[in-house]
Amino acid sequence: MTRRDIINDPSIGNKAEAYEAFDDIPTNPNLSSTIGEVVAARYSRRDMFKGALAVTTTTALFGTSAMIAPKQAAAAGTSRYNFTELEWGNDTMHHVAEGYDAEILLRWGDPITAEAPEFDVMNQTAAAQLQQFGYNNDYVGFTALNEAGTRGLLCVNHEYTNEEVMFPGLGRQDRDGFRGMTPELIDIEMAAHGGTVVEIEKETTGEWRVERNGKYNRRITPLNTQMTISGPAAGHARMKTNADPEGMTVIGTLNNCAGGMTPWGTYLMAEENFHGYFWTSKLDGDGKPDLSTLPADEAKRHNRYGVPGMWYAWGTTHDRFDIDKEPNEPNRYGWIVEVDPRNPDAMPVKHTALGRFRHEGCETTQAADGRLVVYSGDDNRFDYQYKYVSNGTVSEDMAANSKLLSDGTLFVARFDEDGTIVWLPLVHGTGPLTAENGFNDQGDVMIDTRLAADLLGATPMDRPEDAQPRGDGSVYLMLTNNSKRKPDAVDAANPRPESSFGHIIEIKEDGGDHGAPKGTWSILVKCGDPSVAEVGALWNPETSQNGWFGSPDNAAIDADGRLWVSTDQGGNWGKTGKSDGLYAVETEGEARGTSKLFFRCPVGGEMCGPYFTDDQETLFVAVQHPGTDGTKDLVGFERDSTFEDPATRWPDFDPAMPPRPAVVVVTKQGGGKIAV
Ligand code: FEO
Ligand code: CA
Ligand code: CA
Repeated sequence: MTRRDIINDPSIGNKAEAYEAFDDIPTNPNLSSTIGEVVAARYSRRDMFKGALAVTTTTALFGTSAMIAPKQAAAAGTSRYNFTELEWGNDTMHHVAEGYDAEILLRWGDPITAEAPEFDVMNQTAAAQLQQFGYNNDYVGFTALNEAGTRGLLCVNHEYTNEEVMFPGLGRQDRDGFRGMTPELIDIEMAAHGGTVVEIEKETTGEWRVERNGKYNRRITPLNTQMTISGPAAGHARMKTNADPEGMTVIGTLNNCAGGMTPWGTYLMAEENFHGYFWTSKLDGDGKPDLSTLPADEAKRHNRYGVPGMWYAWGTTHDRFDIDKEPNEPNRYGWIVEVDPRNPDAMPVKHTALGRFRHEGCETTQAADGRLVVYSGDDNRFDYQYKYVSNGTVSEDMAANSKLLSDGTLFVARFDEDGTIVWLPLVHGTGPLTAENGFNDQGDVMIDTRLAADLLGATPMDRPEDAQPRGDGSVYLMLTNNSKRKPDAVDAANPRPESSFGHIIEIKEDGGDHGAPKGTWSILVKCGDPSVAEVGALWNPETSQNGWFGSPDNAAIDADGRLWVSTDQGGNWGKTGKSDGLYAVETEGEARGTSKLFFRCPVGGEMCGPYFTDDQETLFVAVQHPGTDGTKDLVGFERDSTFEDPATRWPDFDPAMPPRPAVVVVTKQGGGKIAV
């Protein structure tokens, strides 16, 4: 399908769904060569199994690990999560397991400063939005301001905007040449992106409330927040623009998906689908950006990143998002941004030592010797899993800690057939990362991280989403799905072709040390309905019909070291019939691979967050884009949502209010630790 076909496809309900379908076009140039070798290795290993086990069509299609499912079945135990599982389904409401409260804490438009105007959805302005909670809350982090942990700063990413349900009378703009997007609407969109830092407090009643007058409260946006650049690409020739001839400062951050909190309490925002915000007036006959007038190497770099994506019209009113006018501006996005939530006057920092790609998230932990380790996936079909290891160690010195994100080594993962994972360093001058191959310095290696990783022979994965380290050398990788992997292109770490439901990989770093250069990996679960053989799912058989899920996306580890996984099926939730939700996934013992449903979203929403407070008595989850994705599959509604006619008006259920993305706070009725 062409770009134009996808945008106009009547089965695709909104821009976000179209965006994802368009992204199916793989940009990884290595694909065919890497895969040939991997497939050869895989088939020779499978031949060894043939004598001992009957290879059915299903196992042939879905890989050798499916063969061990029956053995696990016999030895199943009970998961450690103590709650009564929720029933699966999909409706206009959110639901939480019995015995828990799930209250709305913050919604799109809620004032977060004393001066902020009350939300007026029919008369929204950019000035108001800059002082109100942003749209499409994704990552949620928390850092305590008192010892009891009852007062603290909530740090929330606002990933993107859905104009068709945000603005009255507008509808889908990508189909309409963005004709309705006035400069003011574009500025509102920009002001609704980015992040929020807001003080919250737990009252003696056990309820959390927002402190609107909190002195730390702030919005961070691509419209007006200045940030500095650190690391190897700071001041690089390819980071310089007309507005910033030094290549040292950027206005804003965008498409902040997941993130992380550092051990020293700062907030990391991952820049994910940054390519979608760049514009060109040069189009080919198919409506696709025409890069033929660019120098060949520049066109190749932009193509590898999907720049310009043209999913927002910002470039029509802000020159920096038009690559015809500012060809280097895209190089200034796709990074990890650090925000000090306790210092509202401090500029956020873009840390270029962590590489430039579609960072899904950036969860931190420490190596055995105290060095900082950050795991981050590149969420694109056939892209890679990365980790970063600092040179220095985490200490009490806050200023020195921030430098850990500027001085260290970025690695990319190769998943070998024998269950070994090797972390390959991206260091200029080593191996193929030389001027001959277009890398003149470490700045080039970081700006073109994807191209460098291609040369190192990293393993192309099924869309790496959140990568959650546990601190004991274990890491859980959410591989969400990959409809474009052909049957002859599967490998041991990505074992299913045309995977609609994704899988989770567990890494055990050597010696339990997150700083180790290699480790082992195994598949924890293969997602989808275990009762349908063709799906090739792998769960512990203790998992009920409520507990299995598709498309793992975000993850958290609770205070007891247990894994929680949230899902984002996008417009494909009709394939499971289930709304997105939060699941408790056992990783240990005989119950390993068991999953239980704890929370589910209203229709069309994806589940983000999740984040547990240190005492494990509070869980924050974020419901992103309620009422939008896949609403044609909601029985009784069966059409695309608009501002005037949405599939749900969650969470207000006010006939004058569209659905609003919101952060939900979950606590146990009567208090106590969650799921214990
Ligand atoms: Fe923004 Fe990869 O999810
Ligand atoms: Ca995500
Ligand atoms: Ca996470």
